[in-house]
Amino acid sequence: MMNSDGIPGSMPNEPDFVSIERIVRESGRRVRGNHAFTVSTKGSVENLVTSADLENERFLRSELTAALPGSAFMGEEGDEASLSDSEWVWIVDPIDGTTNFSRGIPMCAVSVALFRNAEPYAGFVLNPFMDVMYSAVRGRGAFKDGNPIHVSDRDFKSSLLSTAYCCYEKSLAEGCFRVSEILYPRINDIRRIGTAALELSLMAEGAGELYFEIRLSPWDHAAALTILAEAGGCYTGIGGDVRFDGPSPVLAANSEENLALLSEAVNEVYRGRVPYRS
Ligand code: IPD
Ligand code: CA
Ligand code: CA
Repeated sequence: MMNSDGIPGSMPNEPDFVSIERIVRESGRRVRGNHAFTVSTKGSVENLVTSADLENERFLRSELTAALPGSAFMGEEGDEASLSDSEWVWIVDPIDGTTNFSRGIPMCAVSVALFRNAEPYAGFVLNPFMDVMYSAVRGRGAFKDGNPIHVSDRDFKSSLLSTAYCCYEKSLAEGCFRVSEILYPRINDIRRIGTAALELSLMAEGAGELYFEIRLSPWDHAAALTILAEAGGCYTGIGGDVRFDGPSPVLAANSEENLALLSEAVNEVYRGRVPYRS
């Protein structure tokens, strides 16, 4: 059985994914329709939070935990559950790309991941302005609005890299610029769109091939990496896997071969060490 967004029907003991998709679509409508939001900063002038982020996190927390009784909720704007708090844990970014959202740039995402026993289980990434939904449940493929998606087969020299320069912790920017400098002559081009969840989802449908950020939080990448993996892509960290229990580097690619070449370039700068970990 397939639902409207293409995910095969839910199995016993798992949430009803048709309802989860409805909740994510509804949260997107609320974000899109919120024209009276206020903007504040948290920690630094670059790091914004709007009243729409806070309202949407409240909405998603209440709807998602009601849809899956006993589940825990980790959200960017304050609900700090850990992966061991429950068998099922939601990891949510109510608006990924808040700077874009606050300026009316229609590139942002509602990002909802579901973990089971601390492992990725499902991911939903919605562009609220285009009402486009990327979704995946582990082992069942990746979809965009109900249609199966797959990563591209472009080689390294034809690849498009999405990246960022750690704007909330600019002491880490220099290494990121160096990675771009190394990669630029080896690939097609570079993008900095401003929403990791959406950029990784765009990779899942074949619109880009490489992703690098030195420091992302689980709510930025958890849903989109699940979708990317189901679409045939792959990812890693630096000196180990991507971590879902705290900040982590994220390197992602459309193929193992391109991921190895990306890792090689990143390790020319970082030599296998994460700069903010001892
Ligand atoms: C940010 C966006 C941005 C990425 C940052 C994230 P936010 O999330 O995904 O593209 O470069 O690392 O923190 O703050 O807009 O939710
Ligand atoms: Ca984010
Ligand atoms: Ca956010």
